[in-house]
Amino acid sequence: MANLLTENDKRTCRCGELSEKDIGKNVTVMGWTQRQRDLGQLIFIDLRDRSGIIQLSFDKETDAASFETAYGVRSETVLMAKGVVRSRGENAINHKIPTGAIEIAVKELTVLSRSETPPFEIVENSQVRPELRMRYRYLDLRRPDLARNIIARSKIAQITREYYMGEGFLEIETPNLIGPTPEGARDYLVPSRVHPGKFYALPQSPQLYKQLLMVSGFDRYFQLARCFRDEDLRVDRQPEFTQIDTEYSFVTQEDVIATTEGFLKKVWKEFRGEDIQLPLPRLTYAEAMERYGSDKPDVRFGFELKNISDIAGKTSFKVFAGCVENGGSVRAINVKGGGSMPRKEIDGLGEMAKTYKAKGMAWYKMNKGEVSSSYAKFLTEEENKAILERMEFEDGDLICIVADKDDTVFAALGALRCECAKRLGLLDPMETKLLWVTDFPLFEYSEEDGRYYAKHHPFTMPNPEDIDKLDTDRGNVRAIAYDIVMNGTEIGGGSIRIHDPEIQQRMFAALGFTSEEAQAKFGFLLDAFKYGVPPHGGLAFGFDRLVTLLLGLEDIRDVIAFPKAQNASELMTKCPAAADAKALEELSIAITRTEEE
Ligand code: AMO
Repeated sequence: MANLLTENDKRTCRCGELSEKDIGKNVTVMGWTQRQRDLGQLIFIDLRDRSGIIQLSFDKETDAASFETAYGVRSETVLMAKGVVRSRGENAINHKIPTGAIEIAVKELTVLSRSETPPFEIVENSQVRPELRMRYRYLDLRRPDLARNIIARSKIAQITREYYMGEGFLEIETPNLIGPTPEGARDYLVPSRVHPGKFYALPQSPQLYKQLLMVSGFDRYFQLARCFRDEDLRVDRQPEFTQIDTEYSFVTQEDVIATTEGFLKKVWKEFRGEDIQLPLPRLTYAEAMERYGSDKPDVRFGFELKNISDIAGKTSFKVFAGCVENGGSVRAINVKGGGSMPRKEIDGLGEMAKTYKAKGMAWYKMNKGEVSSSYAKFLTEEENKAILERMEFEDGDLICIVADKDDTVFAALGALRCECAKRLGLLDPMETKLLWVTDFPLFEYSEEDGRYYAKHHPFTMPNPEDIDKLDTDRGNVRAIAYDIVMNGTEIGGGSIRIHDPEIQQRMFAALGFTSEEAQAKFGFLLDAFKYGVPPHGGLAFGFDRLVTLLLGLEDIRDVIAFPKAQNASELMTKCPAAADAKALEELSIAITRTEEE
């Protein structure tokens, strides 16, 4: 049976909080057994809690019952230890842990609860199968590295609240059972029992509600908001995630950017002790694509894209010339230090380019004076020289060239430059390269559907200079929309919203909505806008992504207490799961196909 605590059993501190300053003090600690070492006359127990580890020491001075208890303790047993903090002595110091110079000479040891042998050892950076870790997530969270992430997340949430409240923002919750949101991913649906055949959607973001809060007059809103999107998962994507969601009234893009930069400065200062130089650099979307082939460029390294269409288009090499003739482009990156990559590795890069729909990748390299190339033989000496000069080619370099439609060239070279940087070890996760990408296109054309969609959402304000193009030249309308990017990841995004009903009507028309469709979908917002709407705009950070990057990590799941696995399932509680027949009947739902079928 587990031991109950009495009113005399008060924990005085956490294990990892003790230091040499506490020597001589009587303390009571409680925690889990990391390990027990029995040296005959001496027993040591490493006791762990969320703050760290302290060594408990048992010797001939310890009372017999406690010594006996210590003798039988196994890993993960929950203990209460009362005793005196003392120095370990020069020779016994453990330099690997912060409390390594001290220990507790235990006077009284109580087992609070016992543990079965856990399915894996709970140690830092353990190499356990991810499925097993997910299934026993509560044990995985005891691991010091993971625990530190969760504690850091809480601290960053606190800094967030401090900052936005200090700037006059109100924290306001918005509902989770709502109608469809305009963000453009697939909704998670929740069936209604009271209204058979009808569904709520879970919010992809609080977008429409925060705009309504502006209509209500709350003028500065923020929320750590749960968002739900049914999309394919990646290392930086979860079906259920958190945003630091903000909205402001009476502002321009510059106001939102300045307030957001103030937040980033505070977080980096208070969490990382680093000074960020403001204002942050900016690129327009068009510049970002031209130079980096990406709207979320990683600028920790160079390898910038260069357009070589003017040279390549004039050669007799069909792959290059034909592409330029058909309205495409030929662009290249110079991977400094890539010249030593073996042929096989370069072929791998070519295969990677194909996954971005490129037909292939042409290359040229020199390694210690030895030249090789996939395309040089098809070009004259002058043509080769002109390309190499444009690319500022030197010994040790690798040039990668892609010829295709612009979109394909950007996607392929954008990905190749990041892959090469990774292979060459140029990506330091603790380096911070923040920048704004501005002037996003308002619309995105879908070849599949043969129509335009809103790139951000249908309430995004077009750049006033481009409003005339709304009906005639949609592909070239810029939005007042901005993303904040760090090390190649989009950590946040936002826009100034349309608050003029006429522009909103034109926007809906451009998206192919009839006014009836627009009314049916977003009528409540359009109605609200009839009663005095302030000019407004905002931004949302991906909070999980921000925490991941602040900690120098890669996998978003490492900063979420209970994340979903790659296939959106949760292995611990085994969801999603079949619902029982009665519940389905109450919801008037009939299942027509199951996963197993
Ligand atoms: P957006 O859709 O760009 O904008 O989302 C804002 C930020 O949320 C993060 N994010 C995600 N993080 C983890 N998993 C996901 N599946 C995921 N999807 C998005 C990204 C992204 O930059 N309502 C607008 C904001 C606004 O206009 O104010 C919105 O949701 O870091």
